[in-house]
Formats: sequence, structure tokens, C-alpha cells
Amino acid sequence: MINPQKFWDKSAPKYAKSPIRDEISYRKKLAITQQHFRPDWAVFEFGCGTGSTAIAHAPHVKHILATDISGEMLAIAKDRARDAGVENIRFEQGTLDSLELQAASFDAVLGLNILHLLEDVESAIARVQELLKPGGIFVSSTVLVAEAKFYWRLLLPLAQFFGVAPHLSCFNKAELVSMLSDNGFSIDYQWQPSEVTLFIVAKKLA
Ligand SMILES: C[S@@+](CC[C@H](N)C(=O)[O-])C[C@H]1O[C@@H](n2cnc3c(N)ncnc32)[C@H](O)[C@@H]1O
Repeated sequence: MINPQKFWDKSAPKYAKSPIRDEISYRKKLAITQQHFRPDWAVFEFGCGTGSTAIAHAPHVKHILATDISGEMLAIAKDRARDAGVENIRFEQGTLDSLELQAASFDAVLGLNILHLLEDVESAIARVQELLKPGGIFVSSTVLVAEAKFYWRLLLPLAQFFGVAPHLSCFNKAELVSMLSDNGFSIDYQWQPSEVTLFIVAKKLA
């Protein structure tokens, strides 16, 4: 089993240099998220990577706690935030399980390109629900591994064996939507930029 921290620490320099794959969809996701934000909001991001999304959102909210399992990703994120002159993001290393966070303390949680990387997606969604204030939103963008072409799914175990792919959880759109509704969320907005990606803004029921 690949150690996720080691995997992402090693991937960080290359990840930081790779261009955004679909810039138009990325911009649309930022805009939709920002339509939901309020200037006094406290936001929590898990799996923030090199921090670009938190930096883009920072002017639209009061504060962002941006977290990641990888210290190398966070080191790049901190440099980027400093270079951008952004002062309302606090970066912290950890996972949804390891971070000590107060229940019902965030207006929004961001989980972008991360849910499919987690071993226990249902528990992660339950933890997000716990961290949100009633009426708060969970913004996620997720790869639907179950919808990937069969040859990718065949090659995956081999790539994981050689340490060039991380753990991937396999679920489809209906399964993700039902994990969210089973954990007390209503779907406010959903959009599939491609067959294998799903962007959702889910609201914690009051
Ligand atoms: C595909 S990258 C996405 C980064 C960023 N959210 C984005 O959209 O560009 C996945 C990120 O999740 C982090 N990660 C992986 N497993 C994690 C976990 N269990 N808890 C927190 N972060 C994790 C990785 O270190 C990496 O930075």
C-alpha cells in the first residue's frame, strides 16, 4: 500500500509545475463557488495541494484554513500565498482525521480533487458535515473512477504496484450523490465538466 504522504510529497514539485488541465472549467468552478461565499465566512479546505484555489478564493471570504497531508505541497502553497500578498489563509498539515477542529465551525468546506483519493469517502463526508455550520456548504470536485475507461481501471493496480499512482476509491455519480444525501446534505448545484468529473455544491441541512 502506497503511503499517501510520501506519494504526494514526491509528486509536489511536478504537480506545482503542471498547468491546469481545463482552465475554462476551473474558472467556472471558482466563479460558482464565489457566488455562494459571503465576506464574513470561515472556510476550511482539505487536500489544498499547492494552494492556488485557496489563494483565488481568499479575497472573497474572511479566513481560510487550508490543509494537506503533504508538507511539500504546503511549502509551495505558503510561498505562493506570500508572493500573492494573501494574509487570510492559515496553512496546516494534516488530514480530516488528524486535524483538531471544532464541530460546526465553518461556513464552507472545500474538497477539490481529493474525495476519490481517500480510503473511506463516506466517513470523510460525515466529518465534513460535522465541521460545517447548519446551512454551510461543501464544495467538491471529484474524479468518478467508476466511469473511467476500462483500460485505465485495468492498468491502475499495476501503476499502484509500481508506486506511480495513489490509492483511488471507485464510485460513480449516483453513489457520491447518495453518500452526500445519506449524510445530511442537499445538492444545491451539480455539474459534470466531463464524463469522469463531478463538481457539486452541497448544503448541510439546517
Ligand atoms: C490531486 S491533488 C489536488 C490538490 C488541489 N485540491 C487541487 O485541486 O489542485 C490531491 C491533494 O490531496 C492531498 N491529499 C491526499 N490524501 C490526503 C488526505 N488523506 N488528507 C489530506 N490531503 C490529502 C495531496 O497531498 C494533494 O495535495
